[in-house]
Amino acid sequence: MSDILKTKRIQSEISRRRTFAIISHPDAGKTTLTEKLLLFGGAIKMAGAVKSRKTSKHATSDWMAIEQERGISVTSSVMRFSYRDTEINLLDTPGHKDFSEDTYRVLSAVDSVIMVIDHVKGVETQTKRLMEICRMRNTPILTFINKLDREGMPPFSVLSEIEDLLQIECAPMTWPIGMGKDFRGTYNIYRKELCLFSPGKICSEDDVFSTFGLSDPALESLLGSQAEGLREDVALLEGAASPFILSDYLKGSQTPVFFGSALNNFGVKELLDALVDIAPAPLVRPTTTRSVSPDELTFSGFIFKIQANMDPAHRDRLAFLRVCSGHFTRGMKVRHHRQQKNITIANPILFMAQDRTLVEEAWPGDIIGIHNHGTIKIGDTFTEGELLKFTGIPSFAPELFRRVRLKEPFKAKQMQKGLHQLAEEGAVQLFRPVQGNEYILGAVGELQFDVTIERLAREYNVEIFCDHVDYVSARWLHFDSEKTKKEFESDNSRYLFTDTENKLAYLASSDWNLKCILEKWKNVRFMTEREYE
Ligand code: G4P
Repeated sequence: MSDILKTKRIQSEISRRRTFAIISHPDAGKTTLTEKLLLFGGAIKMAGAVKSRKTSKHATSDWMAIEQERGISVTSSVMRFSYRDTEINLLDTPGHKDFSEDTYRVLSAVDSVIMVIDHVKGVETQTKRLMEICRMRNTPILTFINKLDREGMPPFSVLSEIEDLLQIECAPMTWPIGMGKDFRGTYNIYRKELCLFSPGKICSEDDVFSTFGLSDPALESLLGSQAEGLREDVALLEGAASPFILSDYLKGSQTPVFFGSALNNFGVKELLDALVDIAPAPLVRPTTTRSVSPDELTFSGFIFKIQANMDPAHRDRLAFLRVCSGHFTRGMKVRHHRQQKNITIANPILFMAQDRTLVEEAWPGDIIGIHNHGTIKIGDTFTEGELLKFTGIPSFAPELFRRVRLKEPFKAKQMQKGLHQLAEEGAVQLFRPVQGNEYILGAVGELQFDVTIERLAREYNVEIFCDHVDYVSARWLHFDSEKTKKEFESDNSRYLFTDTENKLAYLASSDWNLKCILEKWKNVRFMTEREYE
């Protein structure tokens, strides 16, 4: 095939791909929405097939047992389905107890997100945290306001809460008519269509009515007295809310908003149509040397997640690779740049809704799984030869800390090896004080500590305790000169630590301590993210 034809083929595959994640606070309806999306895509046949991770409301050992039972918990990590001739990759953002750096990092591998807000509760903490990560990359966001079948906040209040707390402009695409017992459906502002809601019934074409706009007298016969309320709301919106502007959505400064009820499969199709119609196809990705366009002829990709196999006999791991450019084919020989080695990817895995299958080929936006024995790390770049290093797959400053204490002191060496390997895998972060011998673990989710204890015992035969310790946040440091570095080090030595890649970090003992240090050392950069090397 000529290069022109190859490029055309790649471009056509790119245009029919969407890779996204759903962000939400626990219980907002992410699992329910995921399931409905998969049903639309025909990837599952029945409701109830997608298990929420929150079913693991048990002790860690149970959680580990579940992981083991599943082999590797990849079935819910990446879900692939087709809709309207579009291949859609939905990446799971672990939530609840298993909230971790992976949750953040998944957002580096997607091109857009859907944010689910429960209109009974409004904007909640976890959504705020995830939104901050999206903002760093200007990720385009579609918003789904869920549970309109229940009484909740007035829609205008939800919108102003999103605008105030999440600092993003809202552009309503649909508007709800009533809520709770009085929920009658939604009005599509741009298509001038009315979609009527009947509890428990999937909205079909028979429930969608085209109108001549809000002055259409047919609204009265369809909505009765609620027609006037809809007119008033939409008139108010015209003055108060911004119209939808595609370029603002694509640069992440505006979010199109849809209302519905995931449980009742209401409003979900409109959302999925928007994902296909306006969400970006695989985008250009930055590297340390140049930007890589997805339609380049040669293959490239990066690792954003490592999943350990729970079988202690084989310490093999599955690395999740996001294809960034070119055409990947099974058996391809690729360059692993950090290791400076060529490897053949003989048995790559593609993740379907509930299964894993061997993949013969993959295109930009797709996620493939590569088996390895600990040689692949998060942030690693693979190409067909060109020396590249994708950026934007960072390590995030931990928010929780523990001091490691060994149960049997003579196992120090094994512990060190285990902790280093788990840190390399991205399971937990490891810090050593510049002065002293302690091991401090850092994480963004509590469960990461339990998993570390469990895996050290199981895979390395080392038992540890994790004690509470008075650190509240970490910042990686960057100095403008050697002189500043020396001064800073001599002033703050007891707060200075190095991580597994020997990068210097400041561990603050309180928010107050961090605030003071930031104010005092204006010529030092305190970073909340660090790129993998
Ligand atoms: P999550 O993954 O974001 O944590 O949320 P999940 O989908 O598990 O939904 C949380 C709860 O909210 C579930 O109820 C779910 O049925 C309910 N829910 C989701 N969407 C809607 C909706 O549109 N309307 C209403 N009324 N409820 C909704 P649960 O009782 O916690 O679990 P379950 O017993 O129903 O599984």
